[in-house]
Amino acid sequence: MTAARVTARGAERWVRGHPWIYRSDVESHPGGPGLVPVQDPRGRFIGQALLSPASEIRLRLLERTDRPVDSQWWCERLLAAAARREGIDASAYRLVHAEGDGLPSLVVDRYDRWIVAQILSAGLETMRQPILAALVSLFRPEGILLRHDVAARRRERLAAETELGFGSVPKEIEVREGGVRYLAAPWDGQKTGAFLDQRSNRILAGEATRAGGRALDCFTYHGSFALHLARRAGGVVALDASAEALDRARANAALNGLGNLEFRQGDAFETLRSMARAREQFDTIVLDPPAFAKSRATVPDAIRGYREINLRAMRCLAPRGTLLTASCSFHLRLPEFLTMLADAAGDSGRRIRVRQILGQAEDHPEILTVPETAYLKGALLEAD
Ligand SMILES: C[S@@+](CC[C@H](N)C(=O)[O-])C[C@H]1O[C@@H](n2cnc3c(N)ncnc32)[C@H](O)[C@@H]1O
Repeated sequence: MTAARVTARGAERWVRGHPWIYRSDVESHPGGPGLVPVQDPRGRFIGQALLSPASEIRLRLLERTDRPVDSQWWCERLLAAAARREGIDASAYRLVHAEGDGLPSLVVDRYDRWIVAQILSAGLETMRQPILAALVSLFRPEGILLRHDVAARRRERLAAETELGFGSVPKEIEVREGGVRYLAAPWDGQKTGAFLDQRSNRILAGEATRAGGRALDCFTYHGSFALHLARRAGGVVALDASAEALDRARANAALNGLGNLEFRQGDAFETLRSMARAREQFDTIVLDPPAFAKSRATVPDAIRGYREINLRAMRCLAPRGTLLTASCSFHLRLPEFLTMLADAAGDSGRRIRVRQILGQAEDHPEILTVPETAYLKGALLEAD
C-alpha cells in the first residue's frame, strides 16, 4: 500500500511520544482515509498511522511495527486496556481513553452489560467493523451504542449522529459506583451518558463529607456527587440550572433510598452569591462546573468565572469545611487553576489548606507526552 511521507519534524513527534502528525508535516499521502504505512523523509518505515485526509491532525500513530492490524491485534489492545482497569469498584467506567490507551480517537465506555463507544477520526472509521467485532467477542455486551453526535466527527467530515452499533441499548442503565447506584443516560445524556471521569473524586468527596453535616453540590447534573455526599451528610442541597437533569437526580436519590436531598433549580453564580450574602454555611461543598474555557482565547474570562464561584464557595464554608472544586476545561492548565484558587482564597478572607490535588479517574489515563489526554483538574481544600 502507498505510504504517507512526513517531514523530519513530523517524525520527531513520534520519537518524542506524541501520536499526532499535523497536515503541515505530511509531505504526501494516499487519497482516502484508512490505515497507512508511514515513512520519514529518507523513506524509512517509522510506523502505521490512521490517515484523515480532511483533518488538521492528518496522521495518528496506531502501531510502531509493520505487524498487521487485524482482529487479533484489536483483541490484544482492548484486552490490555481492560487489564489496566481491573479492580475498579464500579460497573460503569472508561475501557479505552483514546490516546491515553494508545488507541487514538477511540473512546469505549462500559455501562454494566452495555458499551457506549465513539469513533472520532476518519481513519479509525474505516476500522469500525473489526473494532465492534472485537468488543463483542471479548466483552459480550448486550448492545453497543455509538455516541457519534459530536463536533469532533464533523471536523473529520463524518456523519455526526448517534447510532446503534450492535444489539440493543436501553434509554437508562442502572450502574453502581462504590456504594451508590445511579441511572446513566446513554442515548441522550452528556458525554456517553455520565461523567465517568469524576468517579474517584465523587467517592473521595463522599469520604470527606462531615457526618451529619450540611452539604452543597453545585452543578449537580444527575446528582452524582450529591448522592455520595448524602450517604454521610445530614442534608444536601443539589443545585443545577437544568430541570431535566434535576428530574434524573431525583430519580437517582429515590433509587438509593436517600431522603435527605433538596433539589434546587437555579444559576450557581446567583445562588452562591446570595448564599454568601446570607452567611449560609456548609460543611462540604462541591463545584463541578461545565468547561468555562472552550478555547485558549477565552481562558481569561473563564478564570474570572471560576474565581467568582470559588470565592463565594470559600466564604460559605463552615469552620473546618471541605471544598472539592474542579475544572474540566482542557485550555485552563493546572498551574493557572491553582493560581485562580489562591486568588479566590486571598479574597475570601479564609485560610484555605490544600489537602489533595485531583485529576481525572484512573480509567482516563493521562500521558505526560500527550497533554491532550489530560483535561480534568481539581483540588480538595479545607478551611480553618
Ligand atoms: C460538568 S456537569 C456536572 C457533572 C456532575 N457533577 C457529575 O459528576 O455527574 C455541569 C452541570 O452544570 C449545569 N450548569 C451549567 N451552567 C450552570 C449554572 N450557571 N448554574 C447551575 N448549573 C449549571 C449543567 O446543567 C450540568 O448539569
